[in-house]
Amino acid sequence: MMYSESMASSMLPPGPRLPWIPFGGGRRRCLGAAFASFEMRVALRTILRDAVLRPADTREERARSHHITLVPARGARVVREA
Ligand code: HEM
Repeated sequence: MMYSESMASSMLPPGPRLPWIPFGGGRRRCLGAAFASFEMRVALRTILRDAVLRPADTREERARSHHITLVPARGARVVREA
């Protein structure tokens, strides 16, 4: 049996198709992804511009792999002092 695109879509549960990927993917990928990323960089830079941060733990922290990327093994926790 041949499936049309609309039949295939109706067999999937409702809601975003790739909700575990921040901006979705494929034909429905978020049109605002670049703008949203830019906004987030500006907001973070503004919030952190005058912040004084120190590591929450002074032990060396290694990178560990997480899916296709590397992340700090203990989450790079910091304490804001000012
Ligand atoms: C952190 C911010 C944002 C996140 C996490 C996000 C996430 C998403 C996701 C997951 C989808 C795909 C939904 C699906 O699979 O059907 C989507 C679609 C869409 N987003 Fe965003 N979005 C963000 C910001 C924005 C902004 C700022 C705009 C516009 C200025 C925007 C415009 C759109 C549009 C128009 C679609 C529909 C694309 C289509 O169906 O062809 N988004 N967004």
